[in-house]
Amino acid sequence: MKRFISMLLVSVLCLSLAACGDTSSTKSTKNEKLVLGFAQIGQESGWRDAETADIQWYAARNTDTVELHFADAQQDPENQIKAIRSFIDMGVDVIAFAPVIETGWEEVLTECKNANIPVILVDRGIDSGIDDSLYTTMIASDHVWAGEQAAIVMKDLIGNNGVVVELEGTIGASATIQREKGFDDYIAANCPNIQIAARQSGDFTRDQGRDVMASLLASNDHIDGVFAHNDDMALGAIEAIKEAGLKPGEDIKVVSVDGVKSAFEAVLNGELNCTVECTPLLAQQIFDTAFALKDGQTVDKWIVSDDDIYTTDKVTQDIIDGRTY
Ligand code: AHR
Repeated sequence: MKRFISMLLVSVLCLSLAACGDTSSTKSTKNEKLVLGFAQIGQESGWRDAETADIQWYAARNTDTVELHFADAQQDPENQIKAIRSFIDMGVDVIAFAPVIETGWEEVLTECKNANIPVILVDRGIDSGIDDSLYTTMIASDHVWAGEQAAIVMKDLIGNNGVVVELEGTIGASATIQREKGFDDYIAANCPNIQIAARQSGDFTRDQGRDVMASLLASNDHIDGVFAHNDDMALGAIEAIKEAGLKPGEDIKVVSVDGVKSAFEAVLNGELNCTVECTPLLAQQIFDTAFALKDGQTVDKWIVSDDDIYTTDKVTQDIIDGRTY
């Protein structure tokens, strides 16, 4: 129900923002307001809904200076490419998007460059083989760092010895590739007695996290720990572990990434051992950066989020009550 209400809210905001920002008004107000086109991935996780809400609320509160054109790509990179092309046609000042996967962006980003429209990558990156002059900056967490921190916590939780499985995010997404790299490289270099027995994608969704964990429990005799690439999959895995008659957080240690409120609640009740933060509250930085770019200023190539690590000893009811997402 909560998810339905938040989707409804997003749709209503999209419609109202679209209504006050049709193509003709864009052309006539382009040089007065900051016109930003944002192509969102979709609604795969609570984290993503929080990021969308943050961006849309910022725009709704600043209609005197900002005009937002928002597109929901429903997890399909082709839809993001179409949205980016429509933003170019509208003549927006800046384009921002969260790339679903790392690859396939050269052509459309070249079109942005030819149209002199700066591009901000949001929360995920693109393949390092792509000419980096095709985008202006990236505002995102350090996903390799997050994977490493998850590995360090996992090592301590299982006494540097045991069998771990990995619930991967969307295949081909930078958040998946880099979290996996950080985790796997740390384990390979420091934990000869930890075996990563399986890696399988749950596409960053709670339902798939539950289903994949259920099948991993059925096909592995013994699992000591699970590293989920995001909180939603970890929460799904917790359901599967309970359905298998085991205690999440005790019989099987669970570590994930994001730091959404429902994950903090699971940490407080002992079912999730740790969540490594990846903040979705990027709107202020996105719009500040877009204003600077519209103004012709130079910005850093990577604006890195300041994230934290939340283990059971750190999470309190006060922290949960203060969390907005
Ligand atoms: O790119 C960030 C990731 O995408 C978040 O960790 C995840 O929850 C989201 O879907």
